[in-house]
Amino acid sequence: MTEMPVLHARNVSMKFGEALVLDNVDVEFYAGRVYGVVGENGAGKSTLMRILSGFLQPISGQIHFEGKQTVLNPQRAKHLGIVLVPQELNLVEPLRVYENIFLGDEPVKHILIDRKAMIDRSSEIIKSLDVQIDPAEPVEKLSTGKKQMVEIMKALSRNVKILIMDEPTASLSEDETNKLFETVRKLRDSGIAVIFVSHRLKEIIQIADELVVLRDGKKVYQGDLSNFSEAQIAEMMVGRKMSEIYPEKPTIEEKTVFEVQNLSSTDGKIKDVSFALKNGEILGFYGLVGAGRTELMQTIIGIRKLSSGEIFVDGKPTVIKSVKEAMKNGIVYLPEERKLAGLVLNFEVFKNTTLMALDKISKIFTKPKVEVERFEYYRKSFDIRVRSPYQITRTLSGGNQQKLVLSKLVETGAKIFMLDEPTRGVDINSRYQIYKIISELASKKLASFIVISSDLPEIIGLCNRVIVMRDGEVVGEATGDGINEANLIYLALGFSVSQDDETRE
Ligand SMILES: Nc1ncnc2c1ncn2[C@@H]1O[C@H](COP(=O)(O)OP(=O)(O)OP(=O)(O)O)[C@@H](O)[C@H]1O
Ligand SMILES: [Mg+2]
Repeated sequence: MTEMPVLHARNVSMKFGEALVLDNVDVEFYAGRVYGVVGENGAGKSTLMRILSGFLQPISGQIHFEGKQTVLNPQRAKHLGIVLVPQELNLVEPLRVYENIFLGDEPVKHILIDRKAMIDRSSEIIKSLDVQIDPAEPVEKLSTGKKQMVEIMKALSRNVKILIMDEPTASLSEDETNKLFETVRKLRDSGIAVIFVSHRLKEIIQIADELVVLRDGKKVYQGDLSNFSEAQIAEMMVGRKMSEIYPEKPTIEEKTVFEVQNLSSTDGKIKDVSFALKNGEILGFYGLVGAGRTELMQTIIGIRKLSSGEIFVDGKPTVIKSVKEAMKNGIVYLPEERKLAGLVLNFEVFKNTTLMALDKISKIFTKPKVEVERFEYYRKSFDIRVRSPYQITRTLSGGNQQKLVLSKLVETGAKIFMLDEPTRGVDINSRYQIYKIISELASKKLASFIVISSDLPEIIGLCNRVIVMRDGEVVGEATGDGINEANLIYLALGFSVSQDDETRE
């Protein structure tokens, strides 16, 4: 066997306007290996992936495929078997699962699109991933995690030699992630090169044979990772030692600022849920995927209809029928899917920060100068990496878009924040900045938080109290030392551990 990389990016550089986003990056990928690619938000990971799959042309450097120099474009890449699963979902929502999988590549029989072949082939792929998805279901009906799976199936339906996945697991459950990893290993063993971008360093350690680290557009490491800890990888990413500590948990006031009593939704997803949020509290919601946490928040803010139950804001019974009405009552919601978070992608970034808060800034005129100042405040405190306040939002890296969404919500001056997976796609350094912001707002009693997260360390490190849900119901609650991994998982699965069991030697 000749030891030649299937794909080799030689001294590739990329500029957007004046900004050098990739600086002389030289990386090679061999068949039958899994490459983990890491770097802070804005380090250039997605840009490199888009160059490797022909969607962007570098300003200098070359791409070699199986030893021969080539110029990639999307058609050529597809022809060579280079397939990209992009960071942002790219599905046609009203179309069915199988239609999405084969979009643009529909099999044809007697000049007609061969639906049966599409459905059969889709069912095979679904089966190989061992997930529960009906190929005939319209994509819009699926959960975010399942949509992500469909994106992956789209890639698997092609003839692949190099599979590039840009944060594929960001919205997958642990179970779905494990199934994906099984597939990745199978593909690798059949001789495919898999390039895997992720902020979840634990996953990188689990799946990758080799590590690639980007920092500020430069490749700072490519090689073995078997001896690295998460902390060591994080240090390579940021170029300095990290203090990975969660901020101190806020003290809570007795006053209840928000309460839900016996809430049920008409679609049966939420059953008789009650809870109360105290002033300055960070209240976590944990549960397995499908436990109903997102559905609960949607019911509270009127996206789903409630069939019974009451909501109290500051002790007053309140009816909330829409996101707007929620906002009027000082409640904002960060949805788990960034696309639904209402960033206007064609706006300059600063306009998105003030978008929901314009009333506060000016009733009559919008004052760009004030808006830019507001943006600059968040740019500093959230460390939003942009070249200027006038950069177009679409061109921000994924993690920086997420921080921009958060700035928009905080800028409204809301008192109650419901955050659904707030740090998804956010790099490790920025995560701590976001935790600090949440904790500061809570400590100063400027706001109280409901945080849905599937990331256990996050829930454990951040929250004063954790409510656990299963099948649309509240099944447990943890405070103090009870907020630990074993307890939360047991509650989520439907067992309970007594403190004795845990401490017994
Ligand atoms: N089309 C574009 N026009 C201008 N700038 C861009 C464009 N696309 C990306 N950039 C900039 O290039 C830099 C690298 O972005 P990229 O999306 O590659 O980062 P990333 O490493 O994938 O980050 P994340 O972890 O947040 O997804 C960022 O500063 C981003 O703002
Ligand atoms: Mg990216």
